[in-house]
Amino acid sequence: MPRRIKIFDTTLRDGEQSPGCSMNMSEKLRMAEQLDALGVDVIEAGFAIASPGDFQAVKSISGVVKNATVASLARALDKDIKVAYDAVKDAVRPRIHVFLATSDIHMEYKLKMTREEVLKRTFDAVSYAKSLCDDIEFSAEDASRSDPDFLCRVLEEAIRAGATTVNIPDTVGYAVPDEYGELISYVIKNVKGIENVDVSVHCHNDLGMATANSLAAVKAGATQVECTVNGIGERAGNTALEEVVMALYTRKNFFDADCGVDTTQIFKSSKLLSMITGVKVQPNKAIVGENAFAHEAGIHQHGVLANKKTYEIMTPESIGLTENKMVLGKHSGKHALSDRLRSLGLTVTDEALAEIFDEFKKLADRQKSVSDRDIEALVHKKSVSVPESYKLDRFVINVGNTITTTSAVRLDCPDGQKREVVTSSAFGPIDASYKAINDIVGGESFELVDFLIDSVTGGTDAQGAVTVKIKSEGNVYNGHAVSLDIVNAAVMAYVSAINNMIYDKSLVKGGDN
Ligand code: KIV
Ligand code: ZN
Repeated sequence: MPRRIKIFDTTLRDGEQSPGCSMNMSEKLRMAEQLDALGVDVIEAGFAIASPGDFQAVKSISGVVKNATVASLARALDKDIKVAYDAVKDAVRPRIHVFLATSDIHMEYKLKMTREEVLKRTFDAVSYAKSLCDDIEFSAEDASRSDPDFLCRVLEEAIRAGATTVNIPDTVGYAVPDEYGELISYVIKNVKGIENVDVSVHCHNDLGMATANSLAAVKAGATQVECTVNGIGERAGNTALEEVVMALYTRKNFFDADCGVDTTQIFKSSKLLSMITGVKVQPNKAIVGENAFAHEAGIHQHGVLANKKTYEIMTPESIGLTENKMVLGKHSGKHALSDRLRSLGLTVTDEALAEIFDEFKKLADRQKSVSDRDIEALVHKKSVSVPESYKLDRFVINVGNTITTTSAVRLDCPDGQKREVVTSSAFGPIDASYKAINDIVGGESFELVDFLIDSVTGGTDAQGAVTVKIKSEGNVYNGHAVSLDIVNAAVMAYVSAINNMIYDKSLVKGGDN
């Protein structure tokens, strides 16, 4: 009987912490629901004490997740632990995740604590967490650079105080597989009570070995792997969920282990995260990259046509990458669209279906055929939308290579009025339009920090997808739009980022603890 490895997903905490990957509340909720559908065992929803927004996000996620355990991170401080508990307590399965560093360098320079103080703080913090919640994970930050004997003593204290999972992170991505596997074996052999708890690993990818290290740890006896979708995370990222899961799936006999993830949800999870954050995965990324299942070389194509197993160690279908042979176009009806949505695993309300169908028709008029990627982009637009405080009514742009561009933008405003501003810019239509929108929105203070433009499929008639990131009071808010007209997408994405900012701020204000 293969060992059952738990998958702990930290896309919404360690992943979200990385530059360019921040998500607003409705995006986090959408992602959390998808992670639940993916079948991960634990969703680390955030670091509740970090800000009122983080607290509210962890609390809201705790309310929507049906199957997975929901965890919040906390430093080994009573106030952090209490706030973490308040954020997760309504989850079906709540967990508090307490961490404290154990390497000499972290203890001396960051914590300014002695070894004895770290031992005592571990016991006290875990005991307090345990008085609030049954399921407690303790992480020894920078474990891979800690003195192994001291690390064992700390983990023993955590278990004595009631920890149900102990985590041994390679916080700075320094470990190599043999050495990390040996560390896990050493801990398992030398920590009293470890046979009664889960042994977790959490690796960073600074040397490109996060997945290899995590799998070496599984071989050595680890029972939980911490990871993120697409490997997003601090610096070079965290262990990629899809790599660990597909390695266990494809090499089940070698590892004598498997996990509870529904592999057919992997591609959808990866796509959703990219669409939300605007951060695409590299084309040659293992499992979820655009080229992961593409065979270009003639000799490979010949082999695959003769027998797929010549060059394919796993099938595209196993990660949910299905190729629909039936093309949708302008003669396709609502029924066909609804069937395709179902086969793509996308659920929408009847009202949303009607709106998506309208947009699908417009697209089909312009493009000969509408691809699955186009359909996903249309659905995504609907699924993470928030109340529209501002709505684009119209814009008129006068542009040319011998004149200064002017843009007149008219928005429907929250007070029910339509307001129009005309501005000019030497930097082109998007800059001119954004200036006009800034003037209309007036009272809100924010700055544009990123602008990403992409096409949903190939060709000059493809839909343009724009992701805009704006920053206000230290938080980043994303806006997305897809349109056949790239300037239209850019304007709508900017308005959507502003609406997301207003909505998130209102939720945080409403939910202050
Ligand atoms: O990398 C790390 O050590 C962490 C811990 C807080 C688990 O993210
Ligand atoms: Zn980490």
